[in-house]
Amino acid sequence: MFYRNIDEGKVISQEEISKGIFSLWIKNKGAAYANAGQFVGVYPKSKDTLLMRPISICETDEKESKMRLVYRVSGKGTKEFSELKEGDNVKLLANLGNGFPVDEVKGKCIVLMGGGIGIPPMLGVAKALKGEDVNAFLGYRDRDMFLHEDFMSACKVYIATEDGSVGVKGNVIDALKASTGLKPDVIMACGPMPMLRAIKKYAEENNIKAYISLEERMACGIGACLGCVCKTVKKDGHSHVNNTRICTEGPVFDAEEVDI
Ligand SMILES: Cc1cc2nc3c(=O)[nH]c(=O)nc-3n(C[C@H](O)[C@H](O)[C@H](O)COP(=O)(O)OP(=O)(O)OC[C@H]3O[C@@H](n4cnc5c(N)ncnc54)[C@H](O)[C@@H]3O)c2cc1C
Ligand code: FES
Repeated sequence: MFYRNIDEGKVISQEEISKGIFSLWIKNKGAAYANAGQFVGVYPKSKDTLLMRPISICETDEKESKMRLVYRVSGKGTKEFSELKEGDNVKLLANLGNGFPVDEVKGKCIVLMGGGIGIPPMLGVAKALKGEDVNAFLGYRDRDMFLHEDFMSACKVYIATEDGSVGVKGNVIDALKASTGLKPDVIMACGPMPMLRAIKKYAEENNIKAYISLEERMACGIGACLGCVCKTVKKDGHSHVNNTRICTEGPVFDAEEVDI
């Protein structure tokens, strides 16, 4: 269901699950209505970090109306979030973006791909598709991994590490190529831009439908500032330009439609 509001969230728990990676559970109204692949804007309290920070919804508990955010500390805003404690209030702009088309892919051979801090939103997708033929390919730098055990409770898991310390040495596509007998009908992915470009190319060459979740710096999160546009293959029917807004038309796109 569509839900968009300024939510007053309450922190339920927070823990560091890997070096510099935090898992934050928040109770808020929007959690009961979120789709896998949507994101929220989290507002820092500090005056010198005014803009909301976009963070993907990792998973939700609809009954309890709570959501999990998993993020890497990368600057002032996320550093501040890492200091949140149980019972603290946190202001959110929830729920943003479109999410992955989970209902459309049921009954198919589904491959999920997550790279680095693009892994968290794919957990929500895996849980939404529990019981389906879902194969998650998770890419890390090294053995300092996170969330892989959570995925194992929802689907089959394949690991790739850049240094080869766990699973296949290389990236998620190397791991897919190494998995004999797996012929995906659809790929859904989130991760760094070079990984998404490679997935788009691989999917086109192998005639596989692919949905990719893009990231861009964001200010408003609701389509007003045009700070987050990316190039599209076709011209937009309304404005006649090859542009689309990641925060509202995305962050999830049919890979064929975006020029990345
Ligand atoms: C749709 C979406 C989902 C995201 N989901 C996650 C997630 O689940 N986990 C996670 O760790 N990170 C995620 N990010 C990246 C996260 O938003 C940035 O790491 C964060 O905003 C950095 O803020 P900061 O204050 O710590 O760093 P600063 O560098 O101080 O941020 C300064 C400004 O740049 C923006 N910014 C900086 N880096 C990024 C970036 N990579 N993408 C977009 N805006 C950026 C911030 O919003 C802020 O306005 C997501 C980004 C987008 C667009
Ligand atoms: S962040 Fe303002 S239009 Fe997308």
